[in-house]
Formats: sequence, structure tokens, C-alpha cells
Amino acid sequence: MNNDRHQGSSEITQLIIEAAARARAEIGGVSRKPASSKAAKWPIECQIGPGLEGAIACESKVGYVNGTEGLLSYRGYDIFELCAYSTYEEVSYLLLHGNLPTADELREYEQKLVQYRHMNKTLRLLMSFPVEEMNAMAALRMGTIFMRQEFTYIDKEVAKPDLNDAISADEDSIGMETKPSGEKRAIYEFKKKKKKPKKIDAELDDASGLEACYHLIAGVPTLTAAIARIRQGLMPYEPLNDLSHAGNLFYMMNGRRPTPIEERVLDVALILHADHGMNASTFASMVVASTLSDIYFSVGSGIAALNGPLHGGANERVLHTLREIGSPEQVPEWVRTSLKAKKKIPGFGHRVYKTYDPRARILGPLAKYRCLGCAADIQNLIGTAEELEKEVVSSLAEEKKIFPNVDFYSGVVYTRLGIDPAMFTPLFAVSRVAGWTARVLEYMRHNRIFRPRALYTGKFNQKYKPLDER
Ligand code: ACO
Repeated sequence: MNNDRHQGSSEITQLIIEAAARARAEIGGVSRKPASSKAAKWPIECQIGPGLEGAIACESKVGYVNGTEGLLSYRGYDIFELCAYSTYEEVSYLLLHGNLPTADELREYEQKLVQYRHMNKTLRLLMSFPVEEMNAMAALRMGTIFMRQEFTYIDKEVAKPDLNDAISADEDSIGMETKPSGEKRAIYEFKKKKKKPKKIDAELDDASGLEACYHLIAGVPTLTAAIARIRQGLMPYEPLNDLSHAGNLFYMMNGRRPTPIEERVLDVALILHADHGMNASTFASMVVASTLSDIYFSVGSGIAALNGPLHGGANERVLHTLREIGSPEQVPEWVRTSLKAKKKIPGFGHRVYKTYDPRARILGPLAKYRCLGCAADIQNLIGTAEELEKEVVSSLAEEKKIFPNVDFYSGVVYTRLGIDPAMFTPLFAVSRVAGWTARVLEYMRHNRIFRPRALYTGKFNQKYKPLDER
């Protein structure tokens, strides 16, 4: 089962296998099957909380999360198995296509990724802005829009959907802002997609197709590494064609080739962040795609949503927290004070997982791997993280089901790979772009514009008063 790419990192494989065994032991043996994997008969009934909590918005075969048992799988493959034996290239292909690639398919896909890594025009556009003064995620979002310029014909008049094809249900004819009674109709739909005219410039392709997904999966790492370099006042590195996806990302961020262990650790981190159900950033990208906007705009909105501290922005905060605590000895007092002040501790808790996040089970051992040989400040960081985990779990696990989430150890892992905290969330996007694009592609096959409602609780029959009477 061993992957040729993992020859120099068999100890990492072993760590993951051990983490999987621990997870299995804790959930009581072999993972149970999902309760149901049947297609739904729409409309379906489900309990919905504010923020659409609990709402089922669509069907998907891309990935499965079971928050009670701590299970995560992509296209039916358990996350521990993918991390132990696969690579990010295989996993992103799997998410997009639904099956693992054959040797030929993998070769062809890897060649595409290598080709699309080179984005001189996009980087030239990016560097014409003051990226070093910008939030790294804002710069990344801007960069994806520049990528769009390289790869889209959709802005041309001929490519726009024909308004005569629009089925426009009268929005006011159903009580949209009152109690829901299950209307099924989308607000705007297009009967047919306009075919790409033959005369379109050969360089420009369909900006919502598979090639655009490959372009984004390959290009977001180049953008991220370039942003990291520009923020340091340095020029971006050219991608190296002989390196793997993770290896090249490491090279472009650090300016040296990674060791097999560094390459593998980054690869595993990328696999772990590639997809995770209908999280906020995935949903944001799907909402944008559902309006028949394109995949670049979708990914841009995914990046925007991921930036928030309740979502992808938490890993950067974890590192600042560990530094603020200072040392393992100060953890108990710090936790007591924080919980008393009702503060949320970054890197803990999850909307879905009410047990240990399986991704944290892998990232924890990776963060601690061979830490005895590393610099004193890194050892201190790891010691503080371990102590914080113990303290928070012992205070909050039983009562509130609060455990470490994916962000808790990822910052320590990235720090050990020489990556600046400001680049942690962009790195999350580098990986998650596979999940965003896979889910958008899947949804677009049976597109229906997203259009939930708000329950109107405001006033009626207000009379307009002129300014001088108010
Ligand atoms: N530290 C301390 N207490 C917490 C934490 C935490 N990190 N998270 C939740 N709680 C407590 C809340 O205070 C609340 O307690 P209460 O019932 O006494 O009021 C209870 O647990 C439930 O919390 P909610 O906020 O309702 O849980 P929700 O499911 O809405 O939130 C979230 C999940 C947003 C992730 C939350 O746990 C949090 O803010 N964590 C810190 C930020 C973080 O790590 N985000 C990354 C998530 S992973 C990802 O997006 C990739």
C-alpha cells in the first residue's frame, strides 16, 4: 500500500497509523457506517436553527463528516487512510472526479498542475498593488480575480446568459419573508447554458469548468507563496517543475527545497484541510456559483469567508495565544482567567465535532514530531500547546464537548515549517480550494440558486414623515 513518494517519510506514515488506531479505540472499534447515504426525496424535513444550522441545502457525494464519532472521509475514503498513504495531488483529483486517479490520469493531472503553477501575468498584476501593506487573505482574494483575467471568456458579451432564457418566478407572489411553507421554485433559473462560441480566443476557456478548477488548485499556492515573499519585501520565486505540489509550495515559501519529512508534513496538512462538509467558506463559494457567477468569483468568496476568526482565521490566533500565555507553567492560570471572563479559546470547539476532531488527532503528533531536537522557543510553544490541550479538555470536554479542532495544532506545524503566522489562513485556502471547486462543480450539475428567507419581525404600515417632522 505504500506510496513511492513516502519513501523518506515512513515515520510520518507510522504516526498517522498510530493516531488512527487511537481514534478507533476511543470510538469503540471499527467506525460505524453513516446512518444513510441515500438520495433525498425533496422537499425534505429538517430542524433549522438560526444561521441555517441543521439545514440540508443539497446532496453531495464529495465528503462526509460525523461530528459525534469524529469521522471524516472524502469520497468514502477515511481521512486517516488518505493521510497515511495518499498525496494532495491524488486527493484533490479524488475530490474533483470522485475516484482515485490511475497512474496515467495522475501523470496527466500533475502535468497540468505544474503547467498552471506558472502565473507570470497574474503575479505582475498582483505586484502592482501594495501587497506588503495588505491583509494576506485580501491579497489572495485579489490574486484569484487576476487569475480570472488569464482564464476567462465569460465577461465577453457573447458568453453572458441570455435573459430571454431566464425563468423569473415573481418574487413577490409568494410570501418570501413569512413563515416557510415549502415553496420549491428557484427565483431565477436559466433553461439552457449558452454554448461557448467557436470563435472564442483559444487561450480563454470556460471559467466554471474543470480546467479552471485545476488552474485554481495549482495557482492559489503560487499566489500564497508570492504574497508571503512580497510581504517580506522580496521577489517571488519561480515554481520548480520537478517538485510535488507540497514540495514546490514549501520551496516557494522558504526558498529552499524541503527535506522529505518537511514535504510530507506539509502534504499531510494540505490533505487534512482539503474539504469539510458545508462549512461557511464552502457554502459561501457555492452560493456565489449558484447565481451563475464563475468559479473564480466563487473561490474569492470562499477566501473571504475563510478569513474570519471563527473559521480559518483561528489558527493564526492560536499561535498568538500560545505566545501570549508564554510557557506551560502559566497555562492553568491563563485558562482559569479566560474561562471566568467567558472568552472562547482559539483552536477549541467546533460546530460539528462534539468529540476530538480527527484532523487534530493527526496534526497533534505532527506538531510534536522530533520536537526535542528543535529550537527552544519551538519546544516552549509545543509544551504550552500540550498543556493548554490538557487543561481545556479537562475543563470543557465533558460538560460542553469542547475538544481541539483542526486549527489548534496546524499553526505549530506551520511554524515548524518556517511559515509566518500571517500566512496560515492563506495556506488553509491553498488546500481548501480543492473542496470548494469539487463541491461547486458537483452542485452546478443540478444548479438551483440559493435563496433562503429571513423571517420578517419588523413593523408594517409605517407612514413616511418628511425630514423636518422626524
Ligand atoms: N473556548 C471556550 N468555550 C467555548 C469554545 C472555546 N473555544 N467554543 C465554544 N465554547 C462554549 C461556548 O462559550 C458555549 O458555552 P455556553 O453554552 O456556556 O454559552 C458553548 O461552548 C457552545 O458554544 P457555541 O459558540 O454556541 O458553539 P458553536 O458551535 O456555535 O461554535 C465555534 C463553534 C465557532 C468553532 C466555537 O467553538 C469557537 O468560537 N471556537 C474558537 C474559534 C475556533 O477555533 N474556530 C475554528 C473552528 S474550526 C474551522 O473553522 C476550520
